[in-house]
Amino acid sequence: MIVCLCNALTEGQVRGAVAGGASRPKDVYCACGKSAQCGCCTATILSIIREEPSRRAA
Ligand code: FES
Repeated sequence: MIVCLCNALTEGQVRGAVAGGASRPKDVYCACGKSAQCGCCTATILSIIREEPSRRAA
């Protein structure tokens, strides 16, 4: 699933960046070699950042 249309970032890429230590949307963009554009995906990326620790623990 595409999470960020501007940068064509997938959910898997975002989760990978979070697993690698990204803790802010800015970190996720940077880890993927991208940068923020319109910002519409910020809330979704924040949701993934918040849920990823519990997801990994399950
Ligand atoms: S949808 Fe992610 S920056 Fe625009």
